[in-house]
Amino acid sequence: MTTHTYHISNKKIDCIFQASISQLENYAADNAIVILTDSKIASVYHQQLSAYRVISFEAGEANKIQETVDQIILQLLEMEIDKDALLVGVGGGVVTDITGFVASIYKRGLRFGFVPTTILAMVDAAIGGKNGVNIGPYKNMIGTILQPWFILYDYSFLQSLPHEEWVNGFAEIIKHACIKDPVLFASIQQHQLSDYMQDTELLSDLIQKNVALKFEIVALDEMEKNERLHLNFGHTIGHAIENTYQIKHGAAVAIGMVVACHLSESLSGFDLSQTVQIVQLIKQYQLPTGIEMDVDRIIKLVLADKKRAGKDIRFVLLNSIGEAAIQLIPIETIRTHLIEYTS
Ligand SMILES: NC(=O)c1ccc[n+]([C@@H]2O[C@H](COP(=O)([O-])OP(=O)(O)OC[C@H]3O[C@@H](n4cnc5c(N)ncnc54)[C@H](O)[C@@H]3O)[C@@H](O)[C@H]2O)c1
Ligand SMILES: [Zn+2]
Repeated sequence: MTTHTYHISNKKIDCIFQASISQLENYAADNAIVILTDSKIASVYHQQLSAYRVISFEAGEANKIQETVDQIILQLLEMEIDKDALLVGVGGGVVTDITGFVASIYKRGLRFGFVPTTILAMVDAAIGGKNGVNIGPYKNMIGTILQPWFILYDYSFLQSLPHEEWVNGFAEIIKHACIKDPVLFASIQQHQLSDYMQDTELLSDLIQKNVALKFEIVALDEMEKNERLHLNFGHTIGHAIENTYQIKHGAAVAIGMVVACHLSESLSGFDLSQTVQIVQLIKQYQLPTGIEMDVDRIIKLVLADKKRAGKDIRFVLLNSIGEAAIQLIPIETIRTHLIEYTS
């Protein structure tokens, strides 16, 4: 077990790696802890969670809504949970986003921590303090920015993680390497997904590097004014694809990263040979590199994206592997590239 304490603004966040969920006792007595989780985790890990009070809700993105938040709050009130309690979200990004949100509004704020159980939540969703829910078709439009007290990494939960969720999480790891860390890029090039699935030491090293990288970015720019925007690499087109074709987030982001590489070649002098390396890495981790798409539908959704500035889109490009940059790009340039690279 190793603990790293990260600092964001005046907040300290403990990350406890290679830990066991029983180490929650270092943060509060079992009877002061309320676990929030989803129906899948609650049923598979019933035994491991039996020491605590548990509130669970139906798994899935469709349940990341205000109604779920209201149901949880009603249950907390019925349990007479007061401000001394500790809320712990055990689950994927849906659970961590909801837990942070509930904890920041219930009785005007409770302490909270996370035990992320997907790769995506471990390297991305649990970090950075963005909490919230979706409303109607709009993703993450209601929420707060508030940092958790701790993030506890218990890799034993990954034993039940479906293969497609492993693949999904690796899209964000590839993204991290592309925008900020050529050494990380080279090290994931040298491995396969199965290496990380079989070797906890290797996986923990990878997770820790990704956690450090995301904390570094968030610490520089908690409110997402500049550096934090780099984390949207692959996401502008990715979100539009995800919403149109109902494919997994990681798969959509992978395709979005390929489009962004091609745009970078013509707009920021990104080297073609580096696009080739990224495409190869995406394939190596079993993610798609393209999809036949209805360009007009995608463009419509890109225009609806919150990263828009007038007719231009605030887009994350690469200067080189490990170095990202923001550029305002006319929507017509994006349309031309989508037609060229997806037909
Ligand atoms: N707050 C942020 O900064 C941030 C960043 C990235 C993503 N997100 C959010 O994260 C969410 C996506 O996260 P996710 O991919 O973890 O989705 P998720 O929470 O829906 O989990 C994916 C699926 O895996 C199941 N699952 C989770 N852990 C499991 C385990 N150990 N064993 C078996 N099944 C398990 C879940 O029940 C679910 O069905 C989105 O809502 C996204 O908006 C937030
Ligand atoms: Zn993402």
